[in-house]
Amino acid sequence: MISKVRLTNWRSHANSELIFSSGTNALLGNMGAGKTSILDAICFSLFGTCPNLQSKKLKLDEMIMKKPIERDKAEVEVHFQVDNNVYSVKRVIEKGRGTTYSELRENGKLLEAPSTQRVNELVSKVMKVDYDLFSKAIYSEQNALDYFLTIPRGQRMKKIDELLMIDKFEKVRSNVTSLVNRIAEKKVGKESVIEHMDLEKTQRNIAELLASINTMTEQRQSLLNELGTVSADKSRMEKEIVRLSEIRKQLEIIKRQESGLSSAINETNRTLTNLQNLENMSSKNVEKNVNELKRLAKSFEEMLTEKNKSYLKLQEQNAKIQSEITLIEKEKLSKLEKELKEKARIKAEFDGFKSEINISTKLKEKQELMQSIISEVEASKARLQDLSDSIEQLSVIGGKCPICEAKLSAVKKKMLIKQKRMRIGALKSHIEDLAKRKKINEKEFSDLIDAARKLDLMAKDLENFDAIRSELENTKNIYSVLNDNGKKIAKELEAVRNDIESLKEKYKGATNESQKADMVFYKLLDYEEKKARLSSLVAEREAMMKHVAEIENVFQGVEFERQEKMFTELAAREKELAAKASGLTDLIKEKTARLQELQGLVENAAKEKEYIAKLDNISMELKIFAKALEETQLELRKEFIAAVNFTMSEMWTALYPYQDFTGAKLAVDEGDYVLQLQEKSGRFMNVEGVVSGGERSIAALALRIAFSLVLAPNVRVLILDEPTANLDANAINMLAMTLRERINDFIDQCFLITHQSEMEEAITGVGYILERDKKNDGETRIEQIF
Ligand SMILES: Nc1ncnc2c1ncn2[C@@H]1O[C@H](COP(=O)(O)OP(=O)(O)OP(=O)(O)O)[C@@H](O)[C@H]1O
Ligand SMILES: [Mg+2]
Repeated sequence: MISKVRLTNWRSHANSELIFSSGTNALLGNMGAGKTSILDAICFSLFGTCPNLQSKKLKLDEMIMKKPIERDKAEVEVHFQVDNNVYSVKRVIEKGRGTTYSELRENGKLLEAPSTQRVNELVSKVMKVDYDLFSKAIYSEQNALDYFLTIPRGQRMKKIDELLMIDKFEKVRSNVTSLVNRIAEKKVGKESVIEHMDLEKTQRNIAELLASINTMTEQRQSLLNELGTVSADKSRMEKEIVRLSEIRKQLEIIKRQESGLSSAINETNRTLTNLQNLENMSSKNVEKNVNELKRLAKSFEEMLTEKNKSYLKLQEQNAKIQSEITLIEKEKLSKLEKELKEKARIKAEFDGFKSEINISTKLKEKQELMQSIISEVEASKARLQDLSDSIEQLSVIGGKCPICEAKLSAVKKKMLIKQKRMRIGALKSHIEDLAKRKKINEKEFSDLIDAARKLDLMAKDLENFDAIRSELENTKNIYSVLNDNGKKIAKELEAVRNDIESLKEKYKGATNESQKADMVFYKLLDYEEKKARLSSLVAEREAMMKHVAEIENVFQGVEFERQEKMFTELAAREKELAAKASGLTDLIKEKTARLQELQGLVENAAKEKEYIAKLDNISMELKIFAKALEETQLELRKEFIAAVNFTMSEMWTALYPYQDFTGAKLAVDEGDYVLQLQEKSGRFMNVEGVVSGGERSIAALALRIAFSLVLAPNVRVLILDEPTANLDANAINMLAMTLRERINDFIDQCFLITHQSEMEEAITGVGYILERDKKNDGETRIEQIF
């Protein structure tokens, strides 16, 4: 049951929400009020498409509200109940982008989002109805009540088979038939292979091969038996020959050893003759002498070491003194002498300087001179000022002298001024002279100060003059002592060097003597050892000769050659027998391989026969299966027609208000379905082309309801958009009554769209009136009336 629909910006609906109940629900309203849009929204919410979109009458973008305000996004949502669960499906469409979001919830919990494809699949699974079935069996579009009758004759059965989903039987059946044909082809192929095989001849060959293999196996066995005896004899003889050969080899080795011993004895004898002169010497005495000489050499060596040590020590002392002498010669002496010379020079300069000028007296004189120049300059400047002042007064006064009141003529005034100016000129040049003298005096004064500073520095420099002089004396003394010591050590070194040389000679002589004595000692030892060894060699050789005589005795009477000949014969026979046996083995192997090949062929033929029998069986079963499919298909069609016809007969009297037709049925005519009405006489006549428009509509409605019940029994919903076209008032009243009173016997919920006010009678569920201000492109407004 569909319980709620919500539309946002869906065609003329800005924001509509409609609640539905079981029974007959109605959407009433004028043309273009927005009724069909609600049904489209239900269908689109459930399956992601609707008939108007499927038939390409409308594009998805056209579902989004254009008027009164253009929107770019619409949303629809439907709630429905199945098996006590409430499901909700939501879809969002956006301009130019199609469906951008799909969602399915079960009792409020999200089952799937946002995949449109997955949501479609899940809704179909939950409702057990897909879009095809929904649009054909449940949703009767506006002006498409007679959908079935509009399908061309000859195609109806196929279409209905598709809705029943029994069209697949047809496909399976044709696949089975082609499979049966392929199996038959395979069988023919296999049979022809077997026919080409001469099985009897193969069996004969197998028997012959078996007999031949047996005979050969026996022959080979007797050969192998003989081979066993020959091999045993041969190996016995081989062992004996090997034993004798070993003894012979041993004999040769002993003989070679004996000859070696003989030559060793001869060699020893020769050495002893050479050392005859040592005969009377005792090795002990010679050893004593050697030790004496070695001791002597050692004592010389120790003395030599001692001397070398003292030589090195003296060398060290000498080097130290020499380095000290060098240091004094090269650095200390010359440095001190240089320093002293410099100081003497400074002293001479200092003494001369000091006697030449008395600086403090001169400084005082210069200071007094400076003071007198400064006072004279000041006095001259004051006189200069006075003269300038009196010139100024003279130039402004009248004819009297301001001092003596005497008459002052202009000539006198001029002369007086001229005299004063001359005196001013003389004073100025005197002041300039004084300035020059002051500058000279200042320079001399500063030179005197510099000289005084220099004398101070010299005096400081000469402070350590005596200390340096006495250090030089001291160093000269040390130098002469060091020189004396150096000479003494040089003499001592010479003496030690001579001692070392003589000790070296002595050591060399003693070492030579001891080596010579050593050699004699070793020769003597060798002589004594060889003498002892000679007798043991002679004894050894005698024992060996005895052993040779014994072994040679063993070979007395052995026919070595004959035995070797017999062995060669046995080996040749063994080889011959082995070759024959191996030849037979190869032959047996070859024949066995051939035998297996033939046996394989026979086994294969048996397997192929078995396989052919199996193919027969499968093909038979497949034919039975194909037949069963055909019969099932026929049976299902029969059952479908029976169910549809039963429903129509149940409904007919409730739907049709007149008595001229007593029933309606779906019949098979010329291999396809036709809708027929039954006349009072009991005769059935085809609806198409014979009955009136209204009668045809009632028959189509009856068929619609029957299809919905038979094809989608678990949905039990019927949607009728304007079913009353072509019906007269009587029929409309009848339909209203049926929808109100009878329809709930067959289905749970019906949606009815109409603009016929009589149809309000049909409402048993919820009823709405839809309105729209079409003049001003208004949006749909909804009012619930029931
Ligand atoms: N995208 C849209 N935006 C706004 N209005 C639209 C849009 N698409 C269609 N309309 C208008 O919405 C109205 C509703 O159409 P609908 O088919 O739902 O009407 P109706 O009530 O079924 O009418 P009728 O009784 O004639 O079948 C129409 O007048 C149509 O012009
Ligand atoms: Mg409509």
